[in-house]
Amino acid sequence: MRTILLWMARNPWLKERVPRLRFVRRAVRRFMPGEDLASAMTAAAGRRQEGIKAAYTRLGENLTDLGEAQAVADHYHEVLDAIAERGTDDEVSIKLTQLGYDLDVETAYRHFDGIARRAGEIGTWAWIDMEGSPYVEGTIAFFERSRRGHENVGLCLQAYLHRTPTDVQRLLPLRPAIRLVKGAYDEPASIAYRRGREVDAAYLAIAASLLPMVRDGAARFMAGTHDVGLVEQIARLGASLGLPPQRIEVEMLYGIRSDQQRLLAARGFDVRCLIAYGEHWYPWYMRRLAERPANVVFAVRQLLPW
Ligand code: FDA
Repeated sequence: MRTILLWMARNPWLKERVPRLRFVRRAVRRFMPGEDLASAMTAAAGRRQEGIKAAYTRLGENLTDLGEAQAVADHYHEVLDAIAERGTDDEVSIKLTQLGYDLDVETAYRHFDGIARRAGEIGTWAWIDMEGSPYVEGTIAFFERSRRGHENVGLCLQAYLHRTPTDVQRLLPLRPAIRLVKGAYDEPASIAYRRGREVDAAYLAIAASLLPMVRDGAARFMAGTHDVGLVEQIARLGASLGLPPQRIEVEMLYGIRSDQQRLLAARGFDVRCLIAYGEHWYPWYMRRLAERPANVVFAVRQLLPW
């Protein structure tokens, strides 16, 4: 089921047609408060009252026209202006292919550099999402270049990739900010763990290698997962190093395990909710279905009148 859903996520014919189906549009609302920034910011305000911080990501990937990349960059400047106006500590998270990385890396770099500079001016962070394996090496190199100029940029790494522990070691001299996720793409067994248990073990080992750096102020580590069991294990490791829950950063997606987001925040963890919005939600939504095929049942239930 996961493989089929991830194939559907990449299929251009379906990408054109599925988003027009009304029941799918209804189902996607579970993971997305709306298609515009205002909806995302309203959702963030609600979370803030529960002690949960926010990050914003505008959906879209693999652009085919550099003009669109300019529009995306302009949009993120508007997001940062809105964050500054509200005086919140919200962050932004961006896919490089959304900034035209497939078409011209230098243009994507120029756009991201401008966003990172503006984020720095207002005292917040710009994160780089990690896409499928063909992008990993280039994205890490992009981050290394950007990190040399900006203290406030972070990178997402995927625990399912065999290479990730080595990548973490490579990045340590940069005092990196790393958001660790399990990984959302359909990667072959030659480069990635495919069994849940193996991914979890890899995740925990990478987290364990980063926590001492967090304690020493030499890295920022964010656990990007809804796996509360893993979060508990990370918290225990952190406690053994003298890190209280307040220094354990956890980030989850809007609409997923909201109850756990609230509980962790109430226990003092530094919880952030990544809020996605925008019109181009199809491949992103299909990856959310692939993570938990039971979500397909939820989507199909939207067909029913009750
Ligand atoms: P796991 O899949 O084991 O889920 C743990 C539990 O959480 C499940 O049992 C279920 O209860 C719940 N859950 C998880 N996913 C759900 C869903 N879709 N619907 C309903 N319940 C669900 N990936 C990537 O490749 N590049 C990236 O840049 C990012 N960025 C990113 C940021 C943040 C903040 C998060 C939380 C995740 C990502 N991801 C990502 C996605 C990530 O790689 C992974 O696919 C998902 O987080 C699912 O894995 P979990 O760690 O949640 O564990």
